[in-house]
Amino acid sequence: MVVGKPLFTEEEIQAKVRELAGMISSDYEGREPLVVGLLKGAFMFFSDLVRHIRVPLRIDFITASSYAKADTTGEVKIHCDMREDIENVDVLLVEDIVDTGITLNYLRERLLARAPRSLKICALLDKRERRIVDVPIDYRGFEIPNEFVVGYGLDYDNKYRNLPYIAIFKRSD
Ligand code: PRP
Repeated sequence: MVVGKPLFTEEEIQAKVRELAGMISSDYEGREPLVVGLLKGAFMFFSDLVRHIRVPLRIDFITASSYAKADTTGEVKIHCDMREDIENVDVLLVEDIVDTGITLNYLRERLLARAPRSLKICALLDKRERRIVDVPIDYRGFEIPNEFVVGYGLDYDNKYRNLPYIAIFKRSD
C-alpha cells in the first residue's frame, strides 16, 4: 500500500478550516458552544478549527472507533466518553470523515438523549457515495470520492495520522 499524491494540500485544508470556522463563528454569535472532538481521527482538524473560531467556547472529546484497518465493523465502540454535562448546552460535534454514517448516527442519538439545547455537526470530509445511514451535516469541508484516504488525522492501522495533507491510500501494484 502506498500514500498517493495529496488529494487536498495543507494549504487547501487550512483555507477550508478557516472558512468553516468563519461560518461557525457567525452562527454561534452570542452563544458559548461546547465543541466536542471525535477521537482519534478528528484531533488535528479539531485543534486547527477551534483556534479560528471567534466565539468563547468550551471543549470536550469522545474517543470512539468502528474500523479495523480499512473496514468498518459496523459496531461503534466508545473507549472514552465526554466529561461535560450537555443538558441545555449548544453542542458542536467535530468529525474528520463521514463514510457510512454509522459512527455519527450512533453518537448523535446518544448525545440527543442527553437533551442538549442544540446539536450540530461539523465534518471535514464527506464520502457520500458510501452512506448507509443518513446523518445531517451542518458544516461540511470537502466531498470526496469513494477512496480510502489517510493523513491530517485519518489513519490506516493507526498510521499516517501525522501527515499535514490528505492523500489517497492505494495498493502498490
Ligand atoms: C473513522 C472516522 C470516523 C468514522 C467514519 O473512525 O474517524 O469517526 O470512522 O466512518 P463511518 O461513517 O463509516 O462510521 P475509526 O473507527 O477509524 O476510529 P479513529 O477515529 O480512531 O480513526
